[in-house]
Amino acid sequence: MTVKIAVLPGDGIGPEIVAEALKVLDCLRTEFGLAVETEHALIGGAAYDAHGTPFPKETLDLCRAADSVLLGAVGGPKWEPLDYSLRPERGLLGLRSELALFSNLRPAVLYPQLVSASTLKPEVVSGLDIMIVRELTGGIYFGKPRGRRINDQGEREGYNTLVYSESEIRRIAHSAFQIARKRNKRLCSIDKANVLECTELWREVVIEVGKEYPDVALSHMYVDNASMQLVRNPKQFDVMLTDNMFGDILSDCAAMLTGSIGMLPSASLDKDGKGMYEPIHGSAPDIAGRGIANPIATILSLAMMLRYSLDDAASAERIENAVQKALDQGYRTADIASEGTAKVGTAAMGDAIVAA
Ligand code: NAI
Ligand code: MG
Repeated sequence: MTVKIAVLPGDGIGPEIVAEALKVLDCLRTEFGLAVETEHALIGGAAYDAHGTPFPKETLDLCRAADSVLLGAVGGPKWEPLDYSLRPERGLLGLRSELALFSNLRPAVLYPQLVSASTLKPEVVSGLDIMIVRELTGGIYFGKPRGRRINDQGEREGYNTLVYSESEIRRIAHSAFQIARKRNKRLCSIDKANVLECTELWREVVIEVGKEYPDVALSHMYVDNASMQLVRNPKQFDVMLTDNMFGDILSDCAAMLTGSIGMLPSASLDKDGKGMYEPIHGSAPDIAGRGIANPIATILSLAMMLRYSLDDAASAERIENAVQKALDQGYRTADIASEGTAKVGTAAMGDAIVAA
């Protein structure tokens, strides 16, 4: 059976890094007989420019019909003046929400070759291997009411709503416990239960779900302390479970422990394990079009797709080993370069990984 992948390159460096992931996919197809076909669609600013909407219906239909989705990144200064509802980011949020991709997995792994690329001391970060499980379709990014208004004093006011239902917390908690079970059986749930009622419920429900996983050690941490602990002693964590906004922020922080945001992949899964895969970084307008972006986060996202949605752990490992080998050989894009390594561009890094 041929697997069908919807490819959404998006904006900025999106098309550049997705092209390298497709080289890797081509290699799996031609050299190792992977039965896969791809179809491209527009999302974000690219879709707005062509169709006047960041999230065309054809794109949603293609993603629904496909077995899996590979996305680059969306957004950029060009579209910032647009009304909020037409901004590229709405395309991505719409896709996550329409496909009910509530479970966002963000591994933060420091490759031994890149210990010196981290801004933290080697003893603090070497061997780092954390999995952040972020709730992706609820919380303050989606809660209603939201908007802007004039208050009784005639002042401008902005407001958003942080809301989670019990069932939303329950399903992401199950995802996190199941992942912890396959790893080192430690789960730390992040909240702000001392101040926010919504996350007080979060903690309560996570404890209830935890009763079904007695083999997993559950702990809780307030998000402010968690951000501090991530920098102070990140290796204390195995799996971190967070809501949508806290996970957004903490995963960027965790990314920097590994040297560069250009290294980190992600998976966003629905209840049946079907998903969308994308690097955790954005469209990097500051370096777009220069051929210097790091494609590894996107290539590793493809590996996650093979493992989590396409049930092909062998191909996933093949990709991950090739990335390691290219790093061993000294290939480095600018974001991870240090003394004594060969600085290469986006395409050369992709080629090195394909060759490996
Ligand atoms: P960003 O992640 O695009 O860039 C942050 C910094 O990391 C920049 O200095 C950039 O050059 C660098 N960087 C990112 N990816 C890199 C790579 N693969 N290789 C080398 N360096 C890399 O975040 P920023 O600048 O806050 O946002 C830029 C645009 O991207 C905005 O329009 C934002 O809304 C959008 N965005 C989109 C996301 C998505 O599509 N999932 C996620 C985050 C932001
Ligand atoms: Mg973010």
